[in-house]
Amino acid sequence: MNEDIRPNGTQFEGKEEYVKDVFTEIASYYDEMNDMMSMGMIKGWHGFMMKKAGDINGKKCLDVGTGTGEIAFLLSEKAGTGGEVRGVDITPKMLEYAERKMKGRDLPKPVVFETGDALSLRFGDDSFDIVTSGYMLRNVTDVQKAIDEMYRVLKPGGRAVVAELSKPDNRVIRLFYELYMKHRVSRLGRKYDKGEPIDGKYTAYGWLTSSVEGFPKGKEMTEKFTEAGFDDARYFVKSMGAVNIYLGIKK
Ligand SMILES: C[S@@+](CC[C@H](N)C(=O)[O-])C[C@H]1O[C@@H](n2cnc3c(N)ncnc32)[C@H](O)[C@@H]1O
Repeated sequence: MNEDIRPNGTQFEGKEEYVKDVFTEIASYYDEMNDMMSMGMIKGWHGFMMKKAGDINGKKCLDVGTGTGEIAFLLSEKAGTGGEVRGVDITPKMLEYAERKMKGRDLPKPVVFETGDALSLRFGDDSFDIVTSGYMLRNVTDVQKAIDEMYRVLKPGGRAVVAELSKPDNRVIRLFYELYMKHRVSRLGRKYDKGEPIDGKYTAYGWLTSSVEGFPKGKEMTEKFTEAGFDDARYFVKSMGAVNIYLGIKK
């Protein structure tokens, strides 16, 4: 990776276009990479998200930054025929793969996928019972606005369940995590992104590792949920700190 053209930090000029270009580029192998990089743990994280969403049956659900649709499919299975699930993403290519995958799934009701921006959702206030989002927040240009929007579209009593990658706090575990990111993830990533910077910035998987660095997590992130208006925002640490799952209930 060319250090001179690497942007500094998780927010930088041209980020929205860059993020779209990254996910357009990696859409075809996104799921395969996720499985390998998470060593299969991603299924457990998603199962936990479903538990924290509470009773999903018959509910109106929205998955923001839905990507290739895995979380939306789980919601659909649990929402049943009486429920309704929508998946929104800013990258059309990711949604193309979500649609393609849906053809092979036996869902009680199809998920409605559509392009849209998490920072300005087209839905009215108090529209959904459950809003989920997996690993999107690092990718947006305004984290607080994305959380504010989740709050706005939730009905009173509705739940937001959000997963995000994080860097473990424990020094020993962090060392293993850093070695894993540096060697395993970078090597796997290079196989796919060929080490080519996108838009003259990070490589696709260089972005994955860099965007976790210094990104708000834990208490700092729950404060953003509280700021948005959520009651009793809390977080759950998974996989020794490699992932945090946030839960906020709208007052
Ligand atoms: C790491 S992927 C996660 C996809 C999916 N949630 C999952 O669990 O696999 C992040 C997704 O967020 C989307 N995204 C980034 N910024 C967005 C925004 N402002 N609005 C909606 N989606 C966005 C990207 O296009 C990408 O599909």
